[in-house]
Amino acid sequence: MCGIVGYVGKQQVTPLLLEGLSKLEYRGYDSAGVAVMTEHGIEVKKSKGRLSILSDMLDGGDALKGNMGIGHTRWATHGEPSDTNSHPHLSQSGKFAVVHNGIIENYMKLRTYLTQKGFTFLSETDTEVIAHLVEYYYEGDIVDTVIKVMNKVEGSYALGILCADQPDSFVAVRKESPLIVGLGEGENFIASDIPAILSHTRKVYFLENNEIVMLTADQVKVFNPDKEEVTKSVYTVDWDIHAAEKGGYEHFMFKEIMEQPRAIADTVKPRIKDGTIVLDDISLSDEYLKNIQKIYIVACGSAYHVGVVGKYVIEEMTRIPVEVSVASEFRYANPIVNERTLVVVISQSGETADTIAAMREAKRLGGRTFAIVNAVGSAIAREADDVLYTWAGPEIAVATTKAYSTQLNAIYMLSLYVAQRLSLIEPVKLAAYIKALEELPEKIEKLLENKGEIQYIASKYYNSKSVFFLGRSLDYAVALEGSLKLKEISYIHSEAYAAGELKHGTIALIEEGTVVVALCTVKSLFDKMLSNIKEVKARGAVVIAIAEEGHTEIEHEADHVIYVPKSNPLVMPSEVVVPLQLFSYYVSSLKGLDIDKPRNLAKSVTVE
Ligand code: G6P
Repeated sequence: MCGIVGYVGKQQVTPLLLEGLSKLEYRGYDSAGVAVMTEHGIEVKKSKGRLSILSDMLDGGDALKGNMGIGHTRWATHGEPSDTNSHPHLSQSGKFAVVHNGIIENYMKLRTYLTQKGFTFLSETDTEVIAHLVEYYYEGDIVDTVIKVMNKVEGSYALGILCADQPDSFVAVRKESPLIVGLGEGENFIASDIPAILSHTRKVYFLENNEIVMLTADQVKVFNPDKEEVTKSVYTVDWDIHAAEKGGYEHFMFKEIMEQPRAIADTVKPRIKDGTIVLDDISLSDEYLKNIQKIYIVACGSAYHVGVVGKYVIEEMTRIPVEVSVASEFRYANPIVNERTLVVVISQSGETADTIAAMREAKRLGGRTFAIVNAVGSAIAREADDVLYTWAGPEIAVATTKAYSTQLNAIYMLSLYVAQRLSLIEPVKLAAYIKALEELPEKIEKLLENKGEIQYIASKYYNSKSVFFLGRSLDYAVALEGSLKLKEISYIHSEAYAAGELKHGTIALIEEGTVVVALCTVKSLFDKMLSNIKEVKARGAVVIAIAEEGHTEIEHEADHVIYVPKSNPLVMPSEVVVPLQLFSYYVSSLKGLDIDKPRNLAKSVTVE
């Protein structure tokens, strides 16, 4: 949440900041602003609303000249989206400009303290206390000042700070909010995420918690809170730069849906060797695996929905009991975790605050943590005992698609891996599962070719007020994701229900014309789903069914049927989700909504 970018070098900074912010807008888009070191000192321009408003205000960047600056795109926490609450914030005298991602938890106390010391606050933000505190403590050395500020503030932060006394350098610091340093030739950068700087450099440092960085055009120095210089290793980003661009597609979401066959293949294929699953970097010993009593899966949003699929799949393959928990609930529920508990955390960004906190709680209780993460070098990836990366590449649309799909495949691989290591699976069965995984990209390709049909169905129902998603077993797990996708980007009220629960209340909401998406791909439960479809049809519902190829009898009951290719039942969720993603996408598109940046949401939820 919130995106930060900063630059010092020889180029004109404002266009660079605007370009960087355009790559970070997925982190928040309530307002945007920049602070630039100009020949007149620090100048700030900021505005409520999308980055395009700021860009127009700045003539695309021509309006503010300078070679050093910081920029910010905001997802509002303290104070409504407004010009005044936008970042950067200036200190009382205007000597310091600050951009911030995170939450200062003791800001009220600090605000009172600083007010007593004569500081006047212009905004409602927690960030403004940082600007004034920096000024309050400054005695000529900005790194010393930042250390004093760090000792005073509680909460999470990534900060970029300009000081009018230092026209050629600026500082940044992070604690619990992400920040990277981009290392260029005669220029250096800070950013919340790699895409913001990728067109300028591939060499980055990942800052650790409490590290302070001082940047000039030619030098980057990193300090710990004792002001000792820290030696960092350079990480070279190996993605194709176009991976984070729209590449001719109208929306990132559509591009990312279409990329799924490639993303799944990249995640799975390198890990299949000689007919077995090989997870090279995983250090789970046989002894440990044998003694696992329980697996927890902990995550938020769509990643949590992957966990719901994971429970069915892992339990089926390994018979180890699995509990799935929303990360924001996990640590307040007094979870039963010990050294024989494997805690699987799933996160695209690797920086979701609740997931990080849950992971730390699991560790504190003695559990072993296993992370499924997309963002290389992210907090979760660094802190977990083991990491299984999904190779989805950068995902920009707020509503996840390809990251969800690769997470599903990571879960299938983890289940197979454990079953294989514990000899719980017969070789013939293992071979069949592996074949199913290998065939998935092609099958999804086939489903994507069918997008015209889904667009047609969406065109009939995009004005619906309410849509229900029903399924049983694994289909129910996917229904949760289908429903979330629809509500996130189309703002249509939607709920997912285990179809058997329908009669216990929800059916009261079904009336003439209510759209029900019925997922009917679990063979053993197909007839039961047919009965559920009849029940809602009898009350006037319009039914869009998803069924496996060949199950044509469903055409007598449903108004529309979308077929998915036959596959191994345990990997079916990977197919079923694709038409649901496309349906949401087309509904949102027909409603003319901002698909990639839905209202009130942000991609990386770095606050609790
Ligand atoms: C936000 C995103 C979702 C995502 C969730 C968890 O709500 O919009 O797409 O599933 O956060 O994010 P993570 O990065 O931990 O997977």
